[in-house]
This record gives sequence, structure tokens and C-alpha cells, in this order.
Amino acid sequence: MSGPATRPRARRPARHADDSRIGCGIDIVDLARFRRSVKRGGRAFLSRIYTDAELRYARSHHDAIPHLAARFAAKEAVMKAVSQIRPGPMPAFKQIEIINDALGRPRAVIGPRGIPDVHISLSHDQRAAVASAFVVAALRTRARASSRRRSR
Ligand SMILES: CC(C)(COP(=O)(O)OP(=O)(O)OC[C@H]1O[C@@H](n2cnc3c(N)ncnc32)[C@H](O)[C@@H]1OP(=O)(O)O)[C@@H](O)C(=O)NCCC(=O)NCCS
Repeated sequence: MSGPATRPRARRPARHADDSRIGCGIDIVDLARFRRSVKRGGRAFLSRIYTDAELRYARSHHDAIPHLAARFAAKEAVMKAVSQIRPGPMPAFKQIEIINDALGRPRAVIGPRGIPDVHISLSHDQRAAVASAFVVAALRTRARASSRRRSR
């Protein structure tokens, strides 16, 4: 007698009811270790990871390290989130820029792959910095359908 089919289904990325896909990512950075890495890596390390605007922002605080570490965590969190919706080559660290608005709220700007909608949150204390990221991407099928409608 044969029972119900037991073959596991291929996993799909998490999907919202409104037909979009969501990627999420999180990362934590130990500040003492990160401080040592910055000391060891010096300018070369900083300029490989951060944009000028990010360095300016971090250096405007009495201790730049927690802000740099939070941005490092945010970039890693964004990479994780992006890879959930779009496997393949990741943007480089410097292609993910974390900027703050006039209220201090951070957001990530990603180029050149045109990731549409990224939400991040940062936190840091004397020991660690953490960041989380959510990326929302419209499904290709939906984009294709609307482009077909436009071309009619
Ligand atoms: C904005 C706020 C939530 C930051 O929290 P915090 O515990 O001081 O600091 P954290 O280390 O957790 O977070 C710092 C990060 O929050 C982010 N942030 C700052 N303002 C923000 C805002 N308005 N919205 C979202 N995120 C914000 C920034 O990314 C910041 O890091 P950065 O400067 O390196 O970019 C806090 O200062 C605040 O205004 N809280 C409102 C409630 C309040 O007044 N509580 C005090 C009485 S209990």
C-alpha cells in the first residue's frame, strides 16, 4: 500500500501575502576584536570597507569604533538578507553605504545592483555592535507582467 508522497519539497524564499519576497540578515561584532582589526589594518582596511561619508560620520563621535563596527555588522547583515532573495555575487562592502537621516535613522544604499528596498537597524554598547537588515524585492513574474502590460 502506498502512503502519501513523502518527497520533501524544494524550499522557497519566504513570501509575503502581497507577492513580494523578503530577505533578512543579522550580524554582531565584538568591539575589542574589531578595535584590534582596525589598528592592524589601518587606513587600507578602513578604505576597503567604508565610504568617505561613513568615515566622516563615525569620526564625528568621540569614539568612532562602535559606529564603524555597527556599520560593518550592517553591511554583513545586508549581504545575508540580499543573498536570501538574490543568490550570486554579493555587493562589495563599500558598495553598501550606511547613511543616517536628520533624525539619526540609518538606511542602507546599495549599488550598483539596484536592490530596491532595504531596512536596517543598528545598536551598540561598549562590548558589541549589532545590526539587522530586511530586503524586500518584487517578484520577477510580477515585474514581467507589468512590463507586458506597459508594452501593449
Ligand atoms: C534613537 C534611540 C532609539 C537609540 O538608542 P540607543 O540605545 O541610545 O542607542 P543604540 O546603540 O541602541 O542605537 C544607536 C543607533 O540607533 C540608530 N538610530 C539613531 N536614531 C534613530 C532613530 N530615530 N530611529 C531609528 N534608529 C536610530 C543609529 O543607527 C545609531 O547608531 P549610529 O549613530 O552608529 O548610526 C534612542 O536614542 C532614543 O531616542 N530612544 C527614544 C526613547 C527614549 O527617549 N528613551 C530614553 C528614555 S528610556
